[in-house]
Order: sequence, then structure tokens, then C-alpha cells
Amino acid sequence: MAQIIGGLTTSHVPAIGRAIAKQLQHEPYWKPFFDGYAPVHRWLAQARPDVVVVFYNDHGLNFFLDKMPTFAVGAAPNYRNADEGWGLPQVPPFQGEQGLSWHLIDALTAEDFDLTTCQEMVVDHAFTLPMALLWPEQQWPVKVVPVCINTVQFPLPSARRCYALGEAVGRAIASWDGAQRVMVMGTGGLSHQLDGERAGFINRDFDLQFMESLVHDPQWATQFNTHELVEKAGTQGVELLMWLATRGALGAKVREVHRNYHIPISNTASGLMLFEPVA
Ligand code: DHB
Ligand code: FE
Repeated sequence: MAQIIGGLTTSHVPAIGRAIAKQLQHEPYWKPFFDGYAPVHRWLAQARPDVVVVFYNDHGLNFFLDKMPTFAVGAAPNYRNADEGWGLPQVPPFQGEQGLSWHLIDALTAEDFDLTTCQEMVVDHAFTLPMALLWPEQQWPVKVVPVCINTVQFPLPSARRCYALGEAVGRAIASWDGAQRVMVMGTGGLSHQLDGERAGFINRDFDLQFMESLVHDPQWATQFNTHELVEKAGTQGVELLMWLATRGALGAKVREVHRNYHIPISNTASGLMLFEPVA
């Protein structure tokens, strides 16, 4: 049976792509952010995942406001990046793990999650930049399964529902026939708000409490409804739903391997956590 070997959660700001393209990793502004990934690179060299299931939110590249699925799972043979208007170089395509895609789709549907299945899908910065942070050479050593959660157009799925989705994904991976080593990743957050009266809003206290909760009390944030999450984390800070889904997939107990938190990267408080499941 396949095995979940770890889970990683990270911010996904487009400016990271610009910093990579201009090789600014050692500049004072960027160094505290990029340095956070060195322990992740060491862990990846040991852990050697075969497949990554990526929880992320599309920002208008694959889905636009006219058609907005709550949960969408990729089942394509490969996934390309495309120009989103940020002026970022495109990254090489990703190879899909279609066997796991369809197994997830079957298992989640059997657990009453109503999914959109995508046999063609382009992936935006929320997918590509975390991949480039993990594998800076951009020669992807893993196959992928994208799982998209709507956080861009209301109404959004609740934190409770996203945690439950993650739990179901965890069960589905564990029941996938094969010897693959599977990693789960969630991208977005942490607190930020790009528009409106509170543009620039960051909530350090909430972010730190949220990160801490993921270690020992992972369902803590599921007490909040969408409006409470927006109030605490900002309109785009609701991307923390990806972190909850990732944590849900890892099961009740985890070991925290690494954590980094840095303010600001562009308009966000950037966060990074790496966990291993404990049987
Ligand atoms: C920024 C953050 C995001 O999550 C995003 O998707 C786009 C931009 C920012 O802080 O600039
Ligand atoms: Fe975003």
C-alpha cells in the first residue's frame, strides 16, 4: 500500500517567482525566506517522495469567476503553467500521477465529496512556486496530483469541510495499491489581504497560534466560520484552508520537522511547516 511520508505547508506569493528568476535568494529581503527551505531540501533528500498531492487555490488561470468548483481534482497526464500576467518565466511541465488521481476521485466521491474532475488543467503560481521552492533545479523528481480548493470566490468551503477533505485524502492515499511514497503539500497564506480597506493587513498573533495548533490541536481553526477566518487572517489569508486539508491528510498525530515564519514577503506573512505522520 502507498504510504504518506510527510506533509508540507508553505506560502506561494508570485514575488517568489520573480526573486527566483532574478536570483535574489541571498539579498537581505529574501534571505530569511529562502533560508527556511534548506532543512526541507535535506529532508527531501532522505524522504524521496514519488508523488506529491498538492492542495492549492487557482487564482483565475484554470478557473475563472464564471465557473468556480469548490473542490477540483486533476486527472491529467501532465500539467502546464501559463502566463498569469505577473511577468514570471514559465516552469517545465509536471507529470500527473493519473492512477492516484482516479483513486482519489473514486474514494472521495464514495465518501460523499462532490468533486469536479479535470482531465485538462493548467496550474498557476500557487502550484508552481512551492514546487520550485522544494526542487530549485526545476527538474521535478515526482509525479503530481493537484487538488484545488476555492478560496477566491464566495461562498468558500468551511474550515471544517476542508479538514474533512484532507482526512478523506489521507485515507484514500493509504488505500492506494502500490508501494509509492506520497507527500502532501498545501500552499497559500498565511495572513494577508490584497484589497479593500484593510489591504496590507497581517495578523502575526493569529498566524503563530494557527501554526502551533497544527502540531497538537489540528482542528482548532475549524471552530471559525469563513467570515471569522477573513476577520482574523484577511481576505486572502483564507488560503490557510490548504494548510488544514494538508494537516487533515496526515492523521491524528504528527512530528513537526521544521517551521519558518517571516514578515513580510510581498503582502503576506510567509509561513512554512514540515510534518511527518506518527502511526
Ligand atoms: C500575493 C499573495 C498571494 O497569495 C497571491 O496569490 C498573490 C499575491 C502577494 O502578497 O503579493
Ligand atoms: Fe494566493
